[in-house]
Amino acid sequence: MATAEQFEHQPVMLDEVLEMLPTRADGFYVDATFGRGGHSRALLSALGPDARLVGIDQDPEAVAIGEQLERADARFRIVAARFDCLNTIVAQEGRPLSGLLMDLGVSSPQLDDAERGFSFLRDGPLDMRMNPQAGESAAQWLARASEKDIADVLYRFGEEKKSRRIARMICETREQQPLTRTVELAALIERALGRGEPGKHPATRSFQAIRIFINQELAALENLLAQGVSLLMPGGRLAVISFHSLEDRIVKQLIRDESGRAPRPRGVPFEMPAPRLQPLGKAHHAGEAEVRRNPRARSAVLRVAERLSE
Ligand SMILES: C[S@@+](CC[C@H](N)C(=O)[O-])C[C@H]1O[C@@H](n2cnc3c(N)ncnc32)[C@H](O)[C@@H]1O
Repeated sequence: MATAEQFEHQPVMLDEVLEMLPTRADGFYVDATFGRGGHSRALLSALGPDARLVGIDQDPEAVAIGEQLERADARFRIVAARFDCLNTIVAQEGRPLSGLLMDLGVSSPQLDDAERGFSFLRDGPLDMRMNPQAGESAAQWLARASEKDIADVLYRFGEEKKSRRIARMICETREQQPLTRTVELAALIERALGRGEPGKHPATRSFQAIRIFINQELAALENLLAQGVSLLMPGGRLAVISFHSLEDRIVKQLIRDESGRAPRPRGVPFEMPAPRLQPLGKAHHAGEAEVRRNPRARSAVLRVAERLSE
């Protein structure tokens, strides 16, 4: 059996994923967030010769790594797309889905590369697209969005209490010159908020919010989860690692609703649908040793659920 120690770039909560996700050595699995393929490689090591694994990523750099793995292991295929294309992939493969993995958010290489524009600590173009070949960059959106829309995004996706003040300053600043660099935006937010919470850069929430909005992350997650629950075979499992409360809330609510644990709405005269999921434990967290090795694991929450028979 593969263990986390074998893998040089250590994916978050790998031991827990390897322990809980694979149920059949010859099954068909989807890694919806391939990234650098840490989880995928470990899964392939744990699975048998007749298994199948499809990785999905919308980032062309991740896809290039997936293509290398595709050449090295015939059981693997990479798909360059947004992950809510799961229906199509499962139809193409023509096999029942044994497991679905999601390790949400941006990857460390995306964060570390200043040119991708995700980091408020590194000077780079204000881009933030996971797929830089599609859609609008953060700079383009900030140049055209209304003050109200900017404030709404910061509040909704960053839970930023001073969203209006930041939005006003963005709009005042862009009258003088467009905001095009990450550090310009970070400095503006610092001016708007002052020091903020200890140990947390004041731009953390706003950068998270703009990134979630630009990549439409929460809508894609909701779509993928809905598809996953319908497509998993009985006994198949869903494993989701999230890094902030907005994502985790969506996952937790879906598992609660699909496992028949949601409170029955008052006065509902009809039968509630039969539960389709069984949660495997509650929220799982990274152990101390992993958090020491990889501080990013500190905020990771893993939820796993198993598909029940109809
Ligand atoms: C946290 S990283 C995954 C790291 C991976 N588990 C590993 O071991 O290397 C998340 C990856 O998912 C991709 N991603 C996030 N949302 C996506 C979406 N809606 N569609 C496709 N890819 C997505 C990102 O581009 C990123 O490469």
